[in-house]
Amino acid sequence: MTVIAIDGPAAAGKGTLARALSRHYGLAYLDTGALYRAVALAVLDADADPDDGETLGDIALRLDLAYLDDPRLRAEATGAAASKISRHAAVRAALLDIQRDFAARPPAGKSGAVLDGRDIGTVICPGADVKLYVTASAKARAQRRAKDEADKGRTANLAAMIAEVEARDAQDMARTHAPLKPAEDAHLLDTTDLSIEAAFERAVAVIDGVLGRN
Ligand code: DC
Repeated sequence: MTVIAIDGPAAAGKGTLARALSRHYGLAYLDTGALYRAVALAVLDADADPDDGETLGDIALRLDLAYLDDPRLRAEATGAAASKISRHAAVRAALLDIQRDFAARPPAGKSGAVLDGRDIGTVICPGADVKLYVTASAKARAQRRAKDEADKGRTANLAAMIAEVEARDAQDMARTHAPLKPAEDAHLLDTTDLSIEAAFERAVAVIDGVLGRN
């Protein structure tokens, strides 16, 4: 079983990279941020108190996976709400087994998995074969997000996006339970000045090196 852990801050391109790596190596892919986003939507719909960790933990335990297909899943407001509810230990505990089971027994008979999130290398899969910590400056991340919005025909305020990205970084890094940080044995990949293709090539070089494939 090969497990590749990819962590890093919001909008660093982890998802795009993780998906491409899972295809390249023929591994299953799990976007763990989507699980927290789904819980955030369930909390919103239940009109639950975002400070009541116990109730939020129960909602996470009973999570309706249909939320993963909810059209609101990718909205920035949902990401911000996910960041808020993910600070509760009960929410994190409720999602632990789903993530570990996926890594241990990937679907479709795959020989391993790529998981991306905030605490994959530190908490979920501390024994992962390869750990990458993908970062980029807040400005570069906000610019990419602004470009995505522009590509969809929507206008974007860059200054507001930089502020959003920085607020999410601060919240994810400062929490008590499983804060965002590189695992000690993670390989750092700063994509500030890299295209998606260049970031992918660097990641493959690191992974092949660790797995002894070159
Ligand atoms: O990667 P994302 O933007 O979809 O994640 C949304 C939020 O979910 C993120 O700001 C914090 C939380 N999250 C987490 O706490 N742990 C993870 N492994 C993944 C996401």
